[in-house]
Amino acid sequence: MSEDTSTATAKTQNEPIQDLRQWLDAVAEIDELVKVSEPVSRDQEMSAIGYLLAKQQPSPTVMFEKTIGFEDDGIGARLLWNLAGPSLKRIAITLGESPDMNATDLIRKVKGKLMQRIPPREVSAPEAPVFENTLLGDDIDLDKFPIPMHWPLDGGRYPGTADCVITRDPDSGYLNVGTYRMMQQGKREAGLYLSPGKDARLHIERAWERGESIEVAAAWGVDPIFMLVGSQGFPKNISEYEFIGGIRDQAVSVVKGKTTDLLIPANAELVIEGVLKPGSMKSEGPFGEFTGYYGRPEGDAPLVEITALHHRNQPIMTNALMADYPSCEQSGFFAIIRSARVWNDFDKLGIPGIEGVYCHPAAAGGWGMTVVSLEQRYAGHAAQVLALAAQVPGGAYYTKWIIAVDEDVDPCDMDQVLWAMASRSNPIDDIDILRNTWSTQLDPSQYPPENRPYGSKALINACKDHKNLKNFSKRTMLSKEIYDKVSADWERLGLPGDVPDVRNFEKDA
Ligand SMILES: Cc1cc2nc3c(=O)[nH]c(=O)nc-3n(C[C@H](O)[C@H](O)[C@H](O)COP(=O)(O)O)c2cc1C
Repeated sequence: MSEDTSTATAKTQNEPIQDLRQWLDAVAEIDELVKVSEPVSRDQEMSAIGYLLAKQQPSPTVMFEKTIGFEDDGIGARLLWNLAGPSLKRIAITLGESPDMNATDLIRKVKGKLMQRIPPREVSAPEAPVFENTLLGDDIDLDKFPIPMHWPLDGGRYPGTADCVITRDPDSGYLNVGTYRMMQQGKREAGLYLSPGKDARLHIERAWERGESIEVAAAWGVDPIFMLVGSQGFPKNISEYEFIGGIRDQAVSVVKGKTTDLLIPANAELVIEGVLKPGSMKSEGPFGEFTGYYGRPEGDAPLVEITALHHRNQPIMTNALMADYPSCEQSGFFAIIRSARVWNDFDKLGIPGIEGVYCHPAAAGGWGMTVVSLEQRYAGHAAQVLALAAQVPGGAYYTKWIIAVDEDVDPCDMDQVLWAMASRSNPIDDIDILRNTWSTQLDPSQYPPENRPYGSKALINACKDHKNLKNFSKRTMLSKEIYDKVSADWERLGLPGDVPDVRNFEKDA
């Protein structure tokens, strides 16, 4: 086995995290890293452990240091599961914030960070840790790596799923960084599943229509910020590399590929480069998905012919389990970054009065429901916010339920949201439906499956009726004076625990 001799990236204080190894150091500091040194099977056992650990609180990330059958393979790959998982602390660390920050503050902070873009910085090949080992041509053999089987009925082995896939727009030349799954199809081939309308799919379709091949690269074992950003819908003409740089407040280090012209993350643990030849498709899937169901039945997906494989010594291969909540890798971080993305879209459009946005993690990996809290400032404001939340780039894909609540309701608190729905909305007047919206073949609610790329959305107005805003029934709220008084007396009266926070007080008392 090669020793872990990586020279890369000794983190200095206050410098943003540069790679997965530094991220793991930060996670170890908050005591959320578990290392398993006994060999474990890559066939459903690692994913099962990840699934179960995600249900614990706190829920650690788990690194399997040895895989059964690969103990003495000379590569020494390690597999990481439940990366960010449901841990708000790890999500905050990934986003460069204090692990103690609460969800509401974190969403607000990230919304601001998404306003900044910093282009990537190209480094030379000798400076790129990912080039510690390179395999080309016939030397490439995916069987040498412990690529896992996630679910019992998966159609094959899935590395990752991929943390980020890089393609170049054939017209504008910008580099897209998207999180998409890949299935091993042979020693030097992998299938790439792309939902309709997703950027890499649009690039491939346009290149193939011209009869041209298109280059592709995929990276595993990057700082999870790549997955957080790569899985969000950003404008189709701007590279996600710039948003990652913006969040880090530092350019991402990238390096020119050895068999492609693509810029790949220089500090990744493992990267493949390849080519998609016109019309080259192969049957792929099924795969256990973010909905908690197997996705579309087995079907054709573009086939990547791998031209180079690079890896660091003892590479750490990251795995994102797609599952029901809370074991779906994306649930926890979607609740933060997708909420921030949608809110950021509102800001860019100049919509006033938005007090909070929350994509609930339990709703199909954070994709199924968006709650927006607003201060109603004009007639039709809530209806406008609902329609936009349903269709802005950051929020349009899949979402089935969009709920508007007033500013006194915390969108992150589902009890309060349900209270508002039950007390402020009148279903006959307050629900609208959008039809034929952007969805995915992975939505299990529609048959035949061919209908699935089209979805529908319910817009639920759970705000006070704007026409009766002034004379709407008054909600019961404590007086601030009394709250402060009983809080001060709490201990003296022998009452248990801490005094709960209260957000709304009666002003007219
Ligand atoms: C772990 C993970 C795996 C994903 N796998 C896929 C996939 O296989 N295919 C796909 O189309 N989207 C997948 N997604 C969702 C995309 O990342 C998301 O739709 C994103 O917007 C795609 O990037 P794009 O907007 O640049 O196309 C995945 C998301 C996550 C978090």
